Amino acid sequence: MRTALTTLVAAVVAAPAWATDVVVPYPEGYRTWTHVKSMVIEDGHPLHASFGGIHHIYANDKALKGYRSGRFPDGAVIVFDLLEAPRADHAITEGPRKVAGVMHKNARRYAATGGWGFEGFAGGDKTQRVVGKQAETACFACHVPQKGRDYVFSRLRD
Ligand code: HEC
Repeated sequence: MRTALTTLVAAVVAAPAWATDVVVPYPEGYRTWTHVKSMVIEDGHPLHASFGGIHHIYANDKALKGYRSGRFPDGAVIVFDLLEAPRADHAITEGPRKVAGVMHKNARRYAATGGWGFEGFAGGDKTQRVVGKQAETACFACHVPQKGRDYVFSRLRD
């Protein structure tokens, strides 16, 4: 009993603060959300190392309001769904998922990174988080120049 209690206390103490405070939820069902745009990033592009492949961007209803107004309300979620893009027989097709990148708006909870929580799920696996505490350097820093549009690069099209 004593050992079990000690182990429990150790686990609670060892848990990083972000695990409870600022963890970004997996975006359940995002493939049924609104498709914003797609893009293929080929070898030779400056972002190829991290984002090479084909990506599709999806927005939930609150995020659509943000795309239209320029200010994203709390609860807005945008997904950057990155797949491999093999080229063969004069066609580029969708390959396996590389990562599902997420931006989740909550002005208070994610105040340190512009009100957005950033996370990536390797292979789309909800248990394989690749960003964690690194959101500021791994993601937010590059989105900062888009501050005037609430840190979002993409635009909604007809
Ligand atoms: C080197 C710059 C750079 C870094 C680093 C970066 N992004 Fe982005 N991100 C972009 C660009 C450029 C776009 C727009 C892509 C497009 O228009 O198709 C984008 C788009 C997105 C979008 C769609 C919303 C938007 O802004 O258009 C999400 C979600 C996203 N990124 C998440 C992430 C996550 C999560 C990370 C960290 C793992 C990350 N990004 C790191 C440059 C970056």
